[in-house]
Amino acid sequence: MEKRQLGRTGLYVTALGYGAMELRNLEERASVRLLNAVLDSGITYIDTSPDYCLSETYIGKAIVHRRDEFILATKCGCHVDGRGTPQDPDHIWSRERLLANAEQSLRLLQTDHIDVWQLHGTRPGWLAGGRHDEVIQTMQELKRQGKVRAIGISFRNGGPGDAMYPAGYSLEGLREFAEWGVFDVIQVVYGGLTRQNEIALAKAAELGIGMIARGVVKRYFPNYDELFEQAGLTDLCEVGESPNSFLIRFALAHPGISTMIVGTSNPDHLVENVAAASGGKLSDEVYAEAKRRLDAVGIVADAL
Ligand SMILES: NC(=O)c1ccc[n+]([C@@H]2O[C@H](COP(=O)([O-])OP(=O)(O)OC[C@H]3O[C@@H](n4cnc5c(N)ncnc54)[C@H](OP(=O)(O)O)[C@@H]3O)[C@@H](O)[C@H]2O)c1
Repeated sequence: MEKRQLGRTGLYVTALGYGAMELRNLEERASVRLLNAVLDSGITYIDTSPDYCLSETYIGKAIVHRRDEFILATKCGCHVDGRGTPQDPDHIWSRERLLANAEQSLRLLQTDHIDVWQLHGTRPGWLAGGRHDEVIQTMQELKRQGKVRAIGISFRNGGPGDAMYPAGYSLEGLREFAEWGVFDVIQVVYGGLTRQNEIALAKAAELGIGMIARGVVKRYFPNYDELFEQAGLTDLCEVGESPNSFLIRFALAHPGISTMIVGTSNPDHLVENVAAASGGKLSDEVYAEAKRRLDAVGIVADAL
């Protein structure tokens, strides 16, 4: 599978990563099997968070013996109990909270370092000190100590009642966070059916930020399959190719994306996603035509 540079971090990752939020739905034995299948497939990027129930615990137990085979991304600012259950408020942006998250994540993940450590869904206005805020200073301190290797932000996308859903708060915050110059990586919602971050993410990538896409195959609205059809994307699929596979190859064609994290709790879906990514990005002609057709039905990129 293709590997890409994760911005200026010095890390290389497979263009398809694995989103371990879906482990929330699995028992430990099924998680162990799935996580080992993820690594056996060649995927080298795994994204989790303290607030994905037992996801961090399962990763620690299942693949600690294969720690040198993957880049491990988790998050911080999360207000959780010892079983990864969110408390009220669900996030707290303080040095104390970040240090507690780091201590717990390192222990549960059974590792001495986190490769990618991301603020889980904050906004520029929520960090009173801006780029000098204590949470950023805390992240940089842990980076100097070698407990984390790269720092970033993973944007929240809210819910269906939210004006900025599903692209999320990145629409207002991505450019500002990118320009702060403190983050090595930024994770945003992006996919063929959810293109709002298309241009902003390309610009952030040009600044050397490792851009991580999620939401690539996610059906945020029930009409997504109809839209796929309406846009005439089915005609652009290869013989026998599923919409999910096409959407993975569409996202691969975006030059600014370092890796896309696709989650699944289903081993067959993992195989399908890996096969899609191994098939490589859409050709330039098909990619341009797909974007033209999506534009025509109103699924457009951001106008930044
Ligand atoms: N704010 C944040 O930081 C934030 C928020 C949300 C997610 N994330 C991260 O991003 C990762 C990805 O999350 P996402 O929201 O983009 O959604 P996703 O987990 O990538 O996709 C959503 C759904 O697609 C299904 N799916 C995957 N492959 C499929 C296939 N081949 N065929 C049919 N269905 C398939 C999965 O169901 P099955 O289990 O049935 O396959 C899953 O429920 C998460 O695991 C998490 O690590 C971060």
